[in-house]
Amino acid sequence: MLPNFLPVALGLILLSPTLVPASCAQQAGTSWKLVSDGAVSQSPLRPALPEVVISETWDILGPFRLGTREAIWGADPLEYDGGFHNLPYDPNSTFNSALGTNGSVQWSTTHANISRSSGGQVQAALNVSFPAVNWAFMQSVYGWSALQYQAWARGVLEIKGSQPQTIALFGDGLLEFLVDGESYFGGDMFRYHRAPSLIKLTPGHHTLELRLTRDVRALGGLRNAVEVIFHAELRGQEPITLDQDSLLVSELVNGRIGSPWASINVQNNEEQLVEIKSICALKVGLFHHLTITAHRVSMQGPLRIAGHQSRPLIFTVLVEAGREPQFSVEVTYQTAGKSSRVICFNINLEQRPLSDPLRMTYLHPAGIVSYAILRAPPTKSCNISLPAPVILVLHGAGLEADSPQARGMLDATYGTCAWILIPSGVTPWSGDDWHYWGAADIQAAMSAIANWVKRTAWDGPPAALDKLIVAGHSNGGQGAWYFSTHFPDNVSAVAPVSGYTSIENYVPYTMWHDSEPSLSSVLSRSRSTYKHELLVGNLAGIPVAQQHGGDDDNVPAYHGRLMHELLGHTQWPSEYQELPGKGHWYDGVMTTEYLKDFYRTMVNQSSLARALPQTFTITVPASGVLGSKAGIQVDQLYTPDVNGKFRVARSLDRKTWHITTRNIRRFHLLAIYSQAELPEAIVLDKMNGTFQVDPTQSTESWFVRDAEGQWSISHDSIWKAEYQRYGRQLGALDGIVRTQGKLAIRRCSPGVEQVALQISRNFFQYFAADSEILEDCSGTSAEHQPGNVITLAIGQDLPSTAMESYPIRIHQGRLVISTSRSSSALPGFKQEYFYGEPGTGAVFLRPFPEERLELVVWGTDLDGLRQAARLVPTITGSGQPEYVVLGNRSRWESVAGVYAAGHFDWSWRISPGSYQVDPM
Ligand SMILES: *[C@@H]1O[C@H](CO)[C@@H](O)[C@H](O)[C@H]1NC(C)=O
Ligand SMILES: *[C@@H]1O[C@H](CO)[C@@H](O)[C@H](O)[C@H]1NC(C)=O
Ligand SMILES: *[C@@H]1O[C@H](CO)[C@@H](O)[C@H](O)[C@H]1NC(C)=O
Ligand SMILES: *[C@@H]1O[C@H](CO)[C@@H](O)[C@H](O)[C@H]1NC(C)=O
Ligand SMILES: *[C@@H]1O[C@H](CO)[C@@H](O)[C@H](O)[C@H]1NC(C)=O
Ligand SMILES: *[C@@H]1O[C@H](CO)[C@@H](O)[C@H](O)[C@H]1NC(C)=O
Ligand SMILES: *[C@@H]1O[C@H](CO)[C@@H](O)[C@H](O)[C@H]1NC(C)=O
Repeated sequence: MLPNFLPVALGLILLSPTLVPASCAQQAGTSWKLVSDGAVSQSPLRPALPEVVISETWDILGPFRLGTREAIWGADPLEYDGGFHNLPYDPNSTFNSALGTNGSVQWSTTHANISRSSGGQVQAALNVSFPAVNWAFMQSVYGWSALQYQAWARGVLEIKGSQPQTIALFGDGLLEFLVDGESYFGGDMFRYHRAPSLIKLTPGHHTLELRLTRDVRALGGLRNAVEVIFHAELRGQEPITLDQDSLLVSELVNGRIGSPWASINVQNNEEQLVEIKSICALKVGLFHHLTITAHRVSMQGPLRIAGHQSRPLIFTVLVEAGREPQFSVEVTYQTAGKSSRVICFNINLEQRPLSDPLRMTYLHPAGIVSYAILRAPPTKSCNISLPAPVILVLHGAGLEADSPQARGMLDATYGTCAWILIPSGVTPWSGDDWHYWGAADIQAAMSAIANWVKRTAWDGPPAALDKLIVAGHSNGGQGAWYFSTHFPDNVSAVAPVSGYTSIENYVPYTMWHDSEPSLSSVLSRSRSTYKHELLVGNLAGIPVAQQHGGDDDNVPAYHGRLMHELLGHTQWPSEYQELPGKGHWYDGVMTTEYLKDFYRTMVNQSSLARALPQTFTITVPASGVLGSKAGIQVDQLYTPDVNGKFRVARSLDRKTWHITTRNIRRFHLLAIYSQAELPEAIVLDKMNGTFQVDPTQSTESWFVRDAEGQWSISHDSIWKAEYQRYGRQLGALDGIVRTQGKLAIRRCSPGVEQVALQISRNFFQYFAADSEILEDCSGTSAEHQPGNVITLAIGQDLPSTAMESYPIRIHQGRLVISTSRSSSALPGFKQEYFYGEPGTGAVFLRPFPEERLELVVWGTDLDGLRQAARLVPTITGSGQPEYVVLGNRSRWESVAGVYAAGHFDWSWRISPGSYQVDPM
């Protein structure tokens, strides 16, 4: 779980200069130089060159308490005093803090390590600790949650030279920072370096303020220091920057490319829109009067990048026989009102033997290019005429799938007749810890194998996608729990290694600000989709083998032991192997004799049709997101406040299933699954009579329970068009990433440009998700987008939704929530709540046609909108419900400053368990 930030250069080798046309300047590698005195030594020959300098001395204020992943809610105690930016350094002032001796903390100073590189880049490394706090004692009481604290640091950024400069800022380990009091929310907690904050600064001094939020999952629980690196880079003359390190292409086998999909990230350094118009591969030169052409590249349509935005440029590579593997690609682009320009990047197609783990690219459903490491089975040990099972391995947090460590994770099992698939999860943290975003990546990687087989002319056994053995390490072990409890019919066996059970169980939420219990329960419900401890029953019939190091100080063995204990109570025992004296990770941890044996046994089972117990229980998380189990596919729950349940008792001949349900409104049966045969008849909730099952029609036959509790069968799919909620519209607020196609961000009020940019940057940084910023707020522009939509609006500017009964609307600049309570409800509960105070912000999901979602980010004013925008998904575990109204006090009170929060039911009504109060 502890990240190890391995630098990954995806196959980038520069061409020798003689082959590169003049328009494609070679970029020199960056070499960093540590400057001990913090002063800038300028070359006397070039005094006019602009430079960016960061101060060595920093003022620190802290520490203050902070809950695990709580910072997105505000929760900054200094906001009560007007905000850190407005507090001048004063060694005499004290600030209340529950962590400080005598209940207070004071200012201090620290020194940053400053290093500079030749290319006009500077970085400041800060290592801040607070030795006066008795961390050991705090930890003995509160555990790791005591090490989740926050503090502020203030330094200076100086621009030298005579002209304003565009600089790129990267905040490694930061969730937010301020430049001259202007907030850049999002930062780069996990050190991806994908999406810089691009900003234009005048010459002179600028105040730089960093909010340090210590995250045990990123920094570990063995020390108490916060380590961050702030990195600034001058962006000179070039209007756009191509991020060479982000280049993603497939590897070659036998001169063939496994997939044509490729991408490279583009950063727009200008304040105006840039359009990438075309790309082409350059001729590589002349040889004996013959022009040597390169491989072919092409892109679809132009790519529009808003001012200071970063986006992936997606293209395809077609390999031509006999060409050099290294070639240059020329990108033609245009800034509004200027003539076209070109910029180049280089591709080196790496060739590997077919028996190696290989990089395979594919399209993620969100319209971006992702990759997995794929290793075809050894034909020697396989019966060529039978499809071979797939061993899927999910990597831990901070690990790139393309690193030698991840690539080689299963080397010692090579020889077993199985495909090995190591998906990237799109990012080293899989964007959302292998949940919606990561599972979509797994699905895309699985489907991509067939194309890879075709393109590489692989003639060994194809992949048996219905025989999937899921393994994972650490965060990936947790991902293996997620995947197997949420898509049980897709999984034949599961082996979580050093995995944790759920984020709340991993780094406890003790230090969160307290709020009303009914509000806390709304948040806890939002996180509960990933509370795997509650879903172990879904594993019935799936062999489970866990392995955990007895001395694991990163994910304690308690997690493995706990799941083993819980599974024991489901009548579906699991295997648990604890390795004495072993830690979290070591070479070969995924291929111990125990695990190799498990993989081999599972692969060789002649039929993976397992012994599904006669009686089993399916738990549907309250979000409603669950793949089929034993062919039962839930479509809708009655209320999102309670988990759904099916208790299935099969008759001895297995032809009749007696199903008892709780909170299930609609489900259907899926014939395509390998775990057990569908019944011929089912009896529901002990009703008289039985329903006959016709497997040929099962996907279009829905079992629906009415308000009186009577079940009926319906063959009409009209309900999907009637603003009923289903499919990818389910999930809490983070369901917005369940998009088919890139996201669209529409700006419906003037002045929201920076917020739109921030949301786009954060989606890109944290998920590698692409988004297009639309200036046109009309319904039509958004409806033509294939993917989910984020709408930004202030006051009355929010376009209404086509669904008339949708319960949240804007009336005279105020937000109105209509609850579904009847007028006879208890006094004190109302049918309508109004929110219009200055500084109020809100986020809420709305239905969009074709199974899509719209996420509205709204404010009574820009301040409120900015506050609400913090809740758009970035880091996991923050528990945003499906709608939230934030009052101004949440800036320091965190969730306690929330006026309303809750979830929508199957008909988009506010659920009874939701929370709303009047502001006062
Ligand atoms: C801090 O307090 C001391 C003693 O009262 C005083 O002499 C000093 O001027 C104060 N410093 C500041 C920065 O206010
Ligand atoms: C805490 O308060 C006591 C009594 O006022 C004082 O002697 C001590 O110096 C204070 N400690 C700190 C760290 O401020
Ligand atoms: C600062 O630099 C020194 C010397 O290179 C190194 O030992 C130390 O770990 C660095 N500190 C940080 C916070 O990077
Ligand atoms: C940061 O400081 C702590 C001690 O306070 C030290 O253990 C750690 O190695 C330092 N980290 C770096 C990167 O220098
Ligand atoms: C390979 O599988 C086919 C089809 O099941 C079977 O007929 C054949 O005997 C198998 N061959 C070997 C060598 O096991
Ligand atoms: C599960 O399997 C079904 C049927 O093959 C497939 O359509 C679906 O995409 C799979 N789901 C996942 C999450 O892999
Ligand atoms: C079930 O049958 C009994 C006896 O025929 C009848 O009284 C009862 O109303 C029936 N229940 C339902 C739900 O149809």
